[in-house]
Amino acid sequence: MDYQVVVVGAGPGGYACAIRCAQLGLHVGLVEAKHLGGICLNWGCIPTKALFAATHLIADAATAPEMGITFGTPHIDLPRLARWKDEVISALVGGIATLLDKNGVDLLTARGHLEGSNTVALSTGETLTAERIVLATGSAPIDIPGFSFEHPAVWSSDDALTLSEIPERLVVIGGGVIGLELASIYRRLGSSVTVLELLPEILSVVDLDRRTVATLKQLLKRQGIDVRTKTVAESIDTDPEGTIVCTVEGERIPGDRILLSVGRRPNTADLGLETADIEPDARGKVLVDAGLQTSAEGVYAIGDLTPGPMLAHKASAEGIALAEAFAGHKMRSFDHDLIPQAIFTDPEIASVGWSERRAKERGHEVLVGRFPYAALGKALGRRKTDGFFQVVADATDHRLLGAQIIGAEASDLIAEASILVENGLSLEMIADAVHAHPTLPEGLKEAAENALGKAIHTVNR
Ligand code: NAI
Repeated sequence: MDYQVVVVGAGPGGYACAIRCAQLGLHVGLVEAKHLGGICLNWGCIPTKALFAATHLIADAATAPEMGITFGTPHIDLPRLARWKDEVISALVGGIATLLDKNGVDLLTARGHLEGSNTVALSTGETLTAERIVLATGSAPIDIPGFSFEHPAVWSSDDALTLSEIPERLVVIGGGVIGLELASIYRRLGSSVTVLELLPEILSVVDLDRRTVATLKQLLKRQGIDVRTKTVAESIDTDPEGTIVCTVEGERIPGDRILLSVGRRPNTADLGLETADIEPDARGKVLVDAGLQTSAEGVYAIGDLTPGPMLAHKASAEGIALAEAFAGHKMRSFDHDLIPQAIFTDPEIASVGWSERRAKERGHEVLVGRFPYAALGKALGRRKTDGFFQVVADATDHRLLGAQIIGAEASDLIAEASILVENGLSLEMIADAVHAHPTLPEGLKEAAENALGKAIHTVNR
């Protein structure tokens, strides 16, 4: 055998798996055709967060006069903004290359596909044999009838992130995570934005309580984003003025670009799954057992390829757990409900564990506590008063079952709740821990106190 482990795909799942394998003394090869860091680093999490931060400067400057500070009209140098975003990506890609090198991972730049359950064939003509193969090839955006990515006016999220232009009118099809994050960025850049969502609610793939979604919808509306639910987009055509028109149930919605963000599908085509008798399910997902092994012995799959949320941190956690299991450690188990989610709309939404609705559906009697950002000194001083903290606990043993935060820095603030939910700890653990003042995490503590009927800065229910 050439290797003990060959990992196919160097996204957050694949490169983390390869590095951990090498740290544990395994001889590992990592096969990647394009970019180290995968979609997350090059076309997803990282560029969107760089643009999230940059465009927030515009939004903050617009409301700064309330604090007595006035800036002029912002000038957006789009090529410079794109270059800055690319510099952030390059720094991180360079860091991964160094880590792979220093840890002794063999990086093979090629496309790879299975040829049976012990061999990976590379586009360079080489073949690699391995005791274990880890598939970590991620996912790609899907299109829908009438809207093909081949159409020059239709953008995928990759196109939106190249920052080639700021369309005057952007129509977003799909009110999920990607659609709403990019709608928010382009709105702050100055586009007029309409979001068309098929289902009765936006963000319906995430387990959020109605109150959280309703708050977001209200705040998106305040930013001037037109969100239309239960809306089916049918086709595109061009009107006499050259405007691209998206037809929605007889109504014509003009746009300059149409962002299609209706979901993603695992990258399994051309992966040679059939050579190892692995058959993806109807959604293209590769099914795995508790040890992340596919139906073929010695072939494993992680991240977006497998069931569960399509999130970078899920992929990394699986990759690391798998490497440790290969080295003889006990395989850790994963509960997909315990994987936190952070959505970078304005304001951010973050959640972990169950919503109030789901906790009740699962038969729990619950204690729910909430605390508004508007009552937090730190939030008020920053003019970030929109949103609230929510905790849901079992009414009998007070174990935290879930938390949702909508508001400034929610993505950072969810970490404290994640530790509690994942470890089955109680509301009292947050409520009784002294939190520094004045800080945003006090909001989670107050929400826990509110659930226990003893919050100081809000009226307890
Ligand atoms: P998504 O599944 O989150 O949302 C797609 C939306 O499009 C759904 O609400 C669906 O009802 C709607 N839709 C489907 N067909 C439609 C049609 N014909 N017309 C109008 N609406 C239609 O998928 P998205 O946003 O593409 O994201 C893909 C994956 O990437 C998700 O699993 C997401 O969790 C993950 N992701 C996570 C991020 C984060 O956690 N911050 C950021 C970006 C992506």
